[in-house]
Amino acid sequence: MEQTRSELKPVLVFDSGIGGLTVLREARVLMPERGFIYVADDAGFPYGSWEEEALKARIIALFGDLLKTYQPEVCIIACNTAFTLAGADLRAAFPQMTFVGTVPAIKPAAERTRSGLVSVLATPGTVKRAYTRDLIQSFASQCHVRLVGSENLARMAEAYIRGETVTEADVLAEIAPCFVEKNGARTDIVVLACTHYPFMANLFRKLAPWPVDWLDPAEAIARQARRLVPSVPGEDHPEDFDFAVFTSGAPDFSTRRLMQGFGLDIRG
Ligand code: DGL
Repeated sequence: MEQTRSELKPVLVFDSGIGGLTVLREARVLMPERGFIYVADDAGFPYGSWEEEALKARIIALFGDLLKTYQPEVCIIACNTAFTLAGADLRAAFPQMTFVGTVPAIKPAAERTRSGLVSVLATPGTVKRAYTRDLIQSFASQCHVRLVGSENLARMAEAYIRGETVTEADVLAEIAPCFVEKNGARTDIVVLACTHYPFMANLFRKLAPWPVDWLDPAEAIARQARRLVPSVPGEDHPEDFDFAVFTSGAPDFSTRRLMQGFGLDIRG
């Protein structure tokens, strides 16, 4: 049955912080008729260093509330650290909801690499997940995959996008382990396996010891969401709808300004 305007539900985009905005901007292009709710669990940020069971319980509990309050059409988990840990549990706990996940783009990287040397830049949490190891085993067993877990880059990306100063030498120290030379071959693809990192892609390009492809999965995630969200021809985006929710309840001034730049009011 075709949905009418009053039944058109919003799309919820979730991340631990502002990294999911890299996915939101692509999703909006592909689903212009939908309203968007951006949820940042900034009270739990950064997710990268959480103990797994505690983080999983936190995310499941949070979604219990979010689904009840906002009743979205679909939830995009725009966070590798969250989805590689809790994706299956979210689907099991809320079988009536559609979850679109974000996982390290290891498969496309393995298909594209010419040198066979691929690096995955992610949070320490994503790097140690069984999910990530399984992706490598299933899709990249013919490649040499270097997993680089960065303690600091998600925080740096938050600072950078808010316009704070980030020292280039510090950024270089985080990305340098991605660059591997082996038997005359060099890394040619770095998977950006944290949604915060594409915000810094220009800086990464500038600092890289040699040119590589920086693989950002945001568009592929948005395309997957579009496939799952019924399109309603002739519908316009609901006016003044889009908003952001911060679990801290108190995003700082520069975060508010950033949200405004994305056309998101702050609620909750
Ligand atoms: N943006 C998140 C991701 O894609 C992680 C940031 C964090 O450490 O919370 O993994």
